[in-house]
Amino acid sequence: DAGEHDSFMHKEMLEQPAAAERVLRGRLDERFGTAHLGGLNMDARETRAIRRVKILGCGSAYYVGQMGASLVEELARIPADAEAASEFRYRNPIIEPDTLYVAVSQSGETIDTLLAVQEIRRKGGRVIGLVNVVGSAIARECDGGIYLHAGPEVAVASTKALTNMFLGFALLALQLGRVRDLSIADGRRLIAGLQRLPGQIEEVLAQEDALAELAGRLAEAESLFFVGRVRGFPVAREGAQKFKEISYRHAEAYQTSELKHGPLALISPEVPTVAIVPEDELTDRNVGALHEIDARRGPLVVVTHDGVDLGGLAAERIVVPRNERELDPILLTVPLQLLAYHAALRLGHDIDKPRNLAKSVTVE
Ligand code: BG6
Repeated sequence: DAGEHDSFMHKEMLEQPAAAERVLRGRLDERFGTAHLGGLNMDARETRAIRRVKILGCGSAYYVGQMGASLVEELARIPADAEAASEFRYRNPIIEPDTLYVAVSQSGETIDTLLAVQEIRRKGGRVIGLVNVVGSAIARECDGGIYLHAGPEVAVASTKALTNMFLGFALLALQLGRVRDLSIADGRRLIAGLQRLPGQIEEVLAQEDALAELAGRLAEAESLFFVGRVRGFPVAREGAQKFKEISYRHAEAYQTSELKHGPLALISPEVPTVAIVPEDELTDRNVGALHEIDARRGPLVVVTHDGVDLGGLAAERIVVPRNERELDPILLTVPLQLLAYHAALRLGHDIDKPRNLAKSVTVE
């Protein structure tokens, strides 16, 4: 049972620092600045031969797969992308021998992801799994993988499993990077960042009271936008997904750069925007685009780092700790879980079992 918590989602969100430590435990090699993932079942020669990485998952697992693709591209410099597993096999996908396929799933039982794995293997491709449930169908069908060690997750809305998926991708990207061109100094920099993460997630969770108050106001809106760019875009997609699935408000994710190509038409004082604005090479451009929202009196919530100059925007700030830029997405994601949770709580919804949704969809 959920113990002192009103829901499993709340319990599982607060378990994230401990869960994050478990997925990292025994897998970081500070001396060589790399990760050890024994379960991949690939030797160094096979690892070096990978020319592309294709990630497949559904729902939140798909969005975190997009974050994972960025990690692989940034750290290992291997072209990578994520696709909804539910779409993949219906377009007669071309399976290449030098592509590494990665299936991501908390339950390991999602039928769309399982059928994608079977399609790849039938055509001779190599698939590894990032899976939480040990011995699950997807784990058994894969050639190898990384168990996520998040512990049992009950709430439909994934929190600690999603965080550990992100960390699983960071470990994978680090290992792939270090057998290629990633320097030992960069490897050690990433390891130090990974070791700081559990404590920093704890710092974000400690802001729960302020986030609850803000969520109460967002819950009044019928419709919201979540926007971000590049590393921040999958964060926005995951944030919108969480918000809509448990608060039942319409929440739509957009690239901040695409606002002017459509959604600006809908901005008004009734339509809030939650914007992901980390301190990175895109901060000024992000802030510039948000001024277009401000000018139309659209309420703004900005998830950002301490000291970022928002150029006089009338915005509520949610400040998360800085890590290495590659690892920032997970710290930007955690406050969005709390916003969704507290909006749903305020609206009196069943947090753990949102209407029309199942924790794992095992029929097509
Ligand atoms: C969905 C759930 O149907 O399945 C989502 O509602 C979840 O919350 C998705 O992210 C994928 O589940 P799994 O178990 O494959 O990670």
